[in-house]
Amino acid sequence: MTSITKSEIVKILKELDIKSYNKDYIVLNSIKKLEHNDTSIDVKIQLTLEPNTDIKGLTSFLQSTLTRKLNLKHSTVEIENKGEVHTPAAHKEEILPDIKYTIAIASGKGGVGKSTVSVNLAAALAKQGYKVGLIDADIYGPSIPLMLGVNEKPMIDYSEPTPKMLPVENYGIKLMSIGFLIDDNTPIIWRGPMASGTLKQFLTDVSWGELDFLLFDMPPGTGDIQLTLVQSLPLSGAVIVTTPQEVSLIDARKGLKMFEKLNVPLLGIIENMSYFVAPDTGKTYDIFGMGGGEALANELKVPFLGGIPIDPRIRIGGDKGVPIVFDLPETDHASNMLSIAANLAKTVEASSTGNDYEIIL
Ligand SMILES: Nc1ncnc2c1ncn2[C@@H]1O[C@H](COP(=O)(O)OP(=O)(O)OP(=O)(O)O)[C@@H](O)[C@H]1O
Ligand SMILES: [Mg+2]
Repeated sequence: MTSITKSEIVKILKELDIKSYNKDYIVLNSIKKLEHNDTSIDVKIQLTLEPNTDIKGLTSFLQSTLTRKLNLKHSTVEIENKGEVHTPAAHKEEILPDIKYTIAIASGKGGVGKSTVSVNLAAALAKQGYKVGLIDADIYGPSIPLMLGVNEKPMIDYSEPTPKMLPVENYGIKLMSIGFLIDDNTPIIWRGPMASGTLKQFLTDVSWGELDFLLFDMPPGTGDIQLTLVQSLPLSGAVIVTTPQEVSLIDARKGLKMFEKLNVPLLGIIENMSYFVAPDTGKTYDIFGMGGGEALANELKVPFLGGIPIDPRIRIGGDKGVPIVFDLPETDHASNMLSIAANLAKTVEASSTGNDYEIIL
């Protein structure tokens, strides 16, 4: 049987000369179902349609086009209308031309390890030779400077016509934190609006230089504050961190929905605190249940990027400000972080180019 891939379908859809849908929003994740044999194909495609689109007509046009272009006898197409387009406040190419990918690390639920994952992903990407920036956007409790062992505040570069902030750097990661500018005593109620403004400033008034990745450690939750923050960022995509337990998965679903609504491509799910291996007996304990993150990824047809076990050494790395890929590079945890980061690099590239990729778990 010849193999038809999602990226072939994406390519065909992007090349068609029709105005009914917005091609910018067609990414690999738009193909929600793909089944085929040598003679027929059955696809479900999520599209952002113009108002009053003749969906029936579009469906039969896509059916006949796919049948012809893929040399088949028959195609079944189901179109899911994503509806209204929420365009981000600004396009990345306009305000961050030197940054290749901007990625939000989010979760619905607090305390699932977003900041730990953000720091370790940034460290693992930097270790693999990428140029990495990290923005601590958690208005409730900025924790990244501590986790990266950063004590100083950013300097100002007055040599440019408009002065720019210089991010603080450690382990090859350029860092800006909302905590640098908003002090601990600012009441939470003011932090939301201040945070959106501050984040926008981080995009325009900071000398990031050229970066492959700029990661955002987002505040937990899916309320108005998070929504406004996401809308103010030109994101290439989002990653959701969850623990395997049901309460965290429920919130992760809400997080996914929020990004989907705002047309931010979902790059994958990372499961944190997947299991615990007792150092004395080597026995594995599933403290928060098992396989929940991967099951959710399958259910929502989003890539599963990998799981991270519970290990005090990961927490200690955070507390002392040395990410585990640098602290204990020989451990399984370090190689695991590197492979999750590599999976993320692959999915974000695939999401923007439409090329295929293989996840390695
Ligand atoms: N895999 C892990 N193994 C051991 N400890 C972990 C692991 N992941 C996170 N932790 C610890 O769990 C706590 C919560 O993690 P973290 O601060 O990264 O979560 P968060 O989702 O960013 O929380 P918040 O919602 O408050 O921002 C921290 O003390 C951290 O060191
Ligand atoms: Mg956090």
